[in-house]
Amino acid sequence: MLNIDTVLIEFDKALRTLSGAARATRAMPRAGDDPSSSGASLTAEERRHAAALMRVNHCGEVCAQALYQGQALASSGGNVRAALDKAAREEADHLAWSGERIRELGGRASVLNPLWYAGSLALGYAAGRLGERWSLGFLAETERQVERHLQGHLERLSPRDAGTRAIIETMQREEAGHRRTAESLGARELPELVKGAMRRAARLMTTASYWI
Ligand SMILES: [Fe+2]
Ligand SMILES: [Fe+2]
Repeated sequence: MLNIDTVLIEFDKALRTLSGAARATRAMPRAGDDPSSSGASLTAEERRHAAALMRVNHCGEVCAQALYQGQALASSGGNVRAALDKAAREEADHLAWSGERIRELGGRASVLNPLWYAGSLALGYAAGRLGERWSLGFLAETERQVERHLQGHLERLSPRDAGTRAIIETMQREEAGHRRTAESLGARELPELVKGAMRRAARLMTTASYWI
């Protein structure tokens, strides 16, 4: 049962996520001494495109915060809770890094973030209420789709944009780790229908946040 303290703590987390106040616990990945790492040597169009892709990723990470938060609220504790907490801490770094990279490239975050946050929180909570193995299954499928989506970004990024690439590659590696953790804890395979619905929702979110 949710009490008022829990609601206030979660509300505070939501504000931090949405306000861009999230702080990373690890430094943002950099591409060594590569001069393109800061994005300064990219053309205006390369920067605009990379900032838009990072806006999509930032929006995805806002959703990840809400999904993990919703699942943690609904789950009872134990191993799963501890594993989710570790993944959620890495997701918090992803959120901060994508925000930092957007600023570096001179872009801005998506105005739709609060909307996706609310939807993801509700989804995460609902998944959590279905029990551990379905909840883990939902998590594993989400991470699998994010991995594929990040692969698409690596292919669409300018080959000269080593800085953005370094961040996306690290995120992709860690999302794969989150998926494997969920699988090893006994994630159930979701029905095809649910996977398809998740892909359609993600497509809507990624297309919208590329532009607005
Ligand atoms: Fe992430
Ligand atoms: Fe993840």
